[in-house]
Amino acid sequence: ISLKSYNTFQIDKKARFFTEVQSIQEVQKALRMAENRKIPVFILGGGSNILLTKDIYAMVIKMNITGITVQKENQNNIWVKVGAGEIWHDFVQYAINQNWAGIENLSLIPGTVGASPMQNIGAYGVEIKEVFDHLEAVNRETLEVEIFNHDQCNFGYRESIFKNTVRDKYVITHVTYRLSKHPSPNITYGAIKTTLQEMGISEVGITIDDISKAIISIRQSKLPDPKLIGNAGSFFKNPVVSLEHFEKLKALHPTIPGYPQSKEVKVPAAWLIEQAGWKGRTFGSIGVHKNQPLVLVNYGDGDGEAIKALSEKIQTDVEKKFNILLHPEVNFI
Ligand code: EPU
Repeated sequence: ISLKSYNTFQIDKKARFFTEVQSIQEVQKALRMAENRKIPVFILGGGSNILLTKDIYAMVIKMNITGITVQKENQNNIWVKVGAGEIWHDFVQYAINQNWAGIENLSLIPGTVGASPMQNIGAYGVEIKEVFDHLEAVNRETLEVEIFNHDQCNFGYRESIFKNTVRDKYVITHVTYRLSKHPSPNITYGAIKTTLQEMGISEVGITIDDISKAIISIRQSKLPDPKLIGNAGSFFKNPVVSLEHFEKLKALHPTIPGYPQSKEVKVPAAWLIEQAGWKGRTFGSIGVHKNQPLVLVNYGDGDGEAIKALSEKIQTDVEKKFNILLHPEVNFI
């Protein structure tokens, strides 16, 4: 079947076998079947962080486990267990409606709940690791359900153990978040304050719903809607360079922005790509987005290989100009 409607880049590649699963038992059954027939397995969530460059000769298992249940609560917190197949933004809205705080800054991030710990999704001053409690995952070899607590996940910037040492070894089925009953709004990210002002919302008595609305407005103003223009959000991670390297760059390019991180500096990849002259450029059906150059786009029948080739050209160019190698955030398939 074609995977075009199953990846937000809207790349038209095919899967040899395709099955949807709604429970842990169905995950185990699908894995067993693939094992018996010696077919490789590919786990698919929202398809919002992948670039398909070829047809997949595998059994694609589309994760559809749903459900939002309260596990326990105390005066301050509530522990909520969510099925990996739930749409992330729908869960965020559900939490806001219950007045459960902690994930409102992560409004409108595409993808599913199961993918959230995978790459420790983050935006506007918040990362999932701050509210993550534990997750359940099926071991692809033993088919047993295992629990990963916070420390075992080894979260980093857009990183977790599931992208590193245990890559492709587990199927995440449920994630439990620890949300707060007493919202403490995080509006440290500059753009949030200005957007709230523009929306006429006072910082005094601000609600998590206000924050969510401001973030939705910011995202809609600069990020392309994957339903309209194929994309997978930020294509590259923001690079981190040594203080020494940054000082040298600053001497050559006085306007370079940088965010200090202990002994290093995080440089916005968007700035580097824009300076290298790629912002808004179009090549047939693909290109670099006009408002946010960190996002590569597919305007229609774009090809995954072509997008990969474009990303490599950008990488080479940025490296030549700034001596910084950009690392993709998107997974090439
Ligand atoms: N910038 C430019 N030109 C542009 C746009 C941005 O030079 O056209 C520079 C500016 O210096 C700006 C800086 O980049 O201040 C940061 O831009 P922005 O706030 O848009 O954030 P970002 O660093 O480009 C990251 C995440 C996004 C997340 C936003 C908001 C990564 C790889 N990306 O983008 O996450 O939504 O911050 O927190 O860390 C994603 O991971 O898919 C994603 C969209």
